[in-house]
Amino acid sequence: MKEEYGIRLVKKELLGETCAVLTFFCPEIALSAKPGQFVNLSCSYFLKRPFGIMSVDRDEKTFSIGVRKVGKGTEQIIKANEGDTFTVLGPLGNGFDFSNVKKLLLVGGGTGIFPIFFAAQYAKENNIPCEVVNGYRSKNDAFLYDQFCCACGAFHATTDAGDLGVKGNVMAYLETMDDSELSDSTVMVVGPGIMMRKVSEWAKAKGLTCYVSLEQRMACGIGACLVCICKIKAEQEGKEFVHKRCCKDGPVFNAEEVIW
Ligand SMILES: Cc1cc2nc3c(=O)[nH]c(=O)nc-3n(C[C@H](O)[C@H](O)[C@H](O)COP(=O)(O)OP(=O)(O)OC[C@H]3O[C@@H](n4cnc5c(N)ncnc54)[C@H](O)[C@@H]3O)c2cc1C
Ligand code: FES
Repeated sequence: MKEEYGIRLVKKELLGETCAVLTFFCPEIALSAKPGQFVNLSCSYFLKRPFGIMSVDRDEKTFSIGVRKVGKGTEQIIKANEGDTFTVLGPLGNGFDFSNVKKLLLVGGGTGIFPIFFAAQYAKENNIPCEVVNGYRSKNDAFLYDQFCCACGAFHATTDAGDLGVKGNVMAYLETMDDSELSDSTVMVVGPGIMMRKVSEWAKAKGLTCYVSLEQRMACGIGACLVCICKIKAEQEGKEFVHKRCCKDGPVFNAEEVIW
């Protein structure tokens, strides 16, 4: 059984009207979390809410998450004040596997840019060459732009509005990359389902290994309730697919195994 921790909000930074970065003091999570893992955070409504870990500060023993307001739980979490206390389960899920990675191409969109930031931070700390492509709606929505520029030497933004970086979605940039630039790259994508699917099809055509972080509705977050199941190909088991728990077996899967 995963341990639950009582934690304190030590810093809140609003990003526009609908998003915030929240930093919590929690040595257990700060010292053990891997990019791609998530936490399940309390609010005053039934069930904790899952959020990808955005960064850790091992010296300060804090971790941060980026939250977008979409419903009652996230609205309440964003309204919290520094000093407020929460309970949390984490770090949860498998996280990204960096063991055979020579070069990284990180692709983020929507709230996926928050966990992508943790992967960029990890790459920098571990001297893994890394390029990041984030898709935003517009310049006003380009959260963490400066932080990505610092964390990663090769950072590219695309905007639907065309007021920052390349106009269009992330594919508009990816399609301009030449094969020599891409050789030996492992692709990691977090974002809306349609974006992850398009990027994984592109990566397959380029012969690149691609990992995606699936987002399913969750309840327990620890593999007990089966609310979050997704279909994963299982040819080696003689089946078309098996059901896997996104929270415990994922949320990160090899894109080639996912049935979209
Ligand atoms: C692995 C993972 C990582 C995530 N990372 C982030 C992140 O970094 N930043 C961020 O802003 N959001 C993230 N989300 C989405 C976030 O969990 C939902 O937006 C949030 O749970 C919505 O809660 P609500 O009460 O505001 O909305 P409501 O719609 O009122 O929620 C009702 C119930 O449905 C669940 N639910 C609703 N939408 C989702 C969803 N998309 N995914 C899972 N459960 C959902 C809620 O947890 C709650 O139990 C992530 C989801 C998953 C599964
Ligand atoms: S959320 Fe309960 S099994 Fe995944």
